[in-house]
Amino acid sequence: MKSSTFLTFLAHLVATEACLTEKERQGGHIIDLKAHFARGTINRRQANLGTVPVAVGDRFQNGTTAPVGLGSSANATFDSILNIEEIKSAVFGLAKQYGKDQVQYFEMPHRTFENRTMYGARIGGSGKKGNKGYKVLLESGIHSRERGGPDHLIYLISDLLRAAKDKKGLVYGGMSYSSAQVQSALSQGIVIIPVVNPDGLAFDQATDSCWRKNRNTARAIEGEPSSIGVDLNRNFAPVWNFTESFAPGVDPASDDPSTEIYHGTGPLSEPETKNVDWTLDQFPDLGWFLDLHSPATLVLYGWCHDSNQALDRSQSWQNKAFDGKRGVVPDKPGFEYKEFLGQKDWDALTLAAARVAGGMTDSTGRFYRALQAPHLYPSSGCSADQGLIRAALDPRKKKVYGMGVEFGEWNLDAECSFYPTEDQHRLNMIESSVAFMELLLTAARLG
Ligand SMILES: *[C@@H]1O[C@H](CO)[C@@H](O)[C@H](O)[C@H]1NC(C)=O
Ligand SMILES: *[C@@H]1O[C@H](CO)[C@@H](O)[C@H](O)[C@H]1NC(C)=O
Ligand SMILES: *[C@@H]1O[C@H](CO)[C@@H](O)[C@H](O)[C@H]1NC(C)=O
Ligand SMILES: *[C@@H]1O[C@H](CO)[C@@H](O)[C@H](O)[C@H]1NC(C)=O
Ligand SMILES: [Zn+2]
Repeated sequence: MKSSTFLTFLAHLVATEACLTEKERQGGHIIDLKAHFARGTINRRQANLGTVPVAVGDRFQNGTTAPVGLGSSANATFDSILNIEEIKSAVFGLAKQYGKDQVQYFEMPHRTFENRTMYGARIGGSGKKGNKGYKVLLESGIHSRERGGPDHLIYLISDLLRAAKDKKGLVYGGMSYSSAQVQSALSQGIVIIPVVNPDGLAFDQATDSCWRKNRNTARAIEGEPSSIGVDLNRNFAPVWNFTESFAPGVDPASDDPSTEIYHGTGPLSEPETKNVDWTLDQFPDLGWFLDLHSPATLVLYGWCHDSNQALDRSQSWQNKAFDGKRGVVPDKPGFEYKEFLGQKDWDALTLAAARVAGGMTDSTGRFYRALQAPHLYPSSGCSADQGLIRAALDPRKKKVYGMGVEFGEWNLDAECSFYPTEDQHRLNMIESSVAFMELLLTAARLG
């Protein structure tokens, strides 16, 4: 291959993937962890020079002050990433500033492998009692190396609360929201989980090791640092057992703990995914869900494991007759299968994804594309489908429409290409804020 052709080829490989490089999907790793740790802290930091550093200390002084986001203050600066303690401190700060009517912190029952307590908060709402009247679940930080996700969620919530209190609108680059839209977004009732993978986040922030999974060592191999951890976004219940559900040769996840897509020992085997499922149980009115990832400038919706169709109900993840046929996109002879998604559900998801992608594009001019997730690559056990299969299994549960947003672009100058530069971080902040706003306003429109 000529070198220019080779570069184009490389750029294509990187550009067409999200959360994972092609190499990682094949079982490889972006960085050699053994070499990375052997180099020591200073050289590790140098390898990621030019990326936004993780903050030291607590800018919110253990919840005594509240964050103010970009939509409320053009002065806001983002020259460091919120460290794991600060994220929690920010939530406490918001609760203190805006009061229990607007922000209520809660803890989840399943402790992580490293014995951390996961938490969330319920924000705004329509004034209904208890956990009723919360329609939208927003989460970030499931893949710990995708830096900036929790920051974007915290600052958007901060903006909404501040603007609502001041009866003002919000501006994110080329996108403006009126005061009425701010009130409408907040009154949907928002549940946030800013850090879905706290053990992974603490580790990644301490080591700059481009860490994606959680830190469960149950199946780890001595001397093999990459064999620690489960990919939480392959550990949810939808078609978790890919060996039986998918066509041979499709690798939507892996049984090998040393890969980045190791799916764990069973559906919802991990405390983190159990807690997300528990959260879905706690808030009976949830109907929308957004999981924030990076990078790829993509909005992914529809089923994760295969393309959608709205004609044939029998082509369903519950139908064993189609085991061994799923995940082939486009269909090939003998592997004809597309997952059923009712027309109303498909329309709602398509509208939401188009609004989110369009708004993100209009905010900064970076182009965001909305597409069905398996058109990028099929996956099993993904978070976005958990709210659909729960409702299919138990008719008392409301359907939750999920999507994954992949903000930003790769930082190819850094050893870990998931760590943004300061310029990238600012653009990501604007676009992700708009992504959340557009989903909230879609929920307001469609109910
Ligand atoms: C931070 O605040 C929490 C709750 O407000 C309190 O329980 C905790 O002791 C405080 N931590 C420090 C280090 O002050
Ligand atoms: C922005 O900075 C200017 C100058 O430091 C200050 O006067 C102003 O109050 C700040 N605005 C906000 C919204 O923080
Ligand atoms: C986990 O944390 C809780 C609360 O801090 C503590 O009571 C418990 O002893 C811890 N368990 C382990 C195994 O460290
Ligand atoms: C997944 O399905 C295969 C084929 O039916 C079965 O052999 C295997 O035990 C299942 N794995 C788990 C962990 O349940
Ligand atoms: Zn991700």
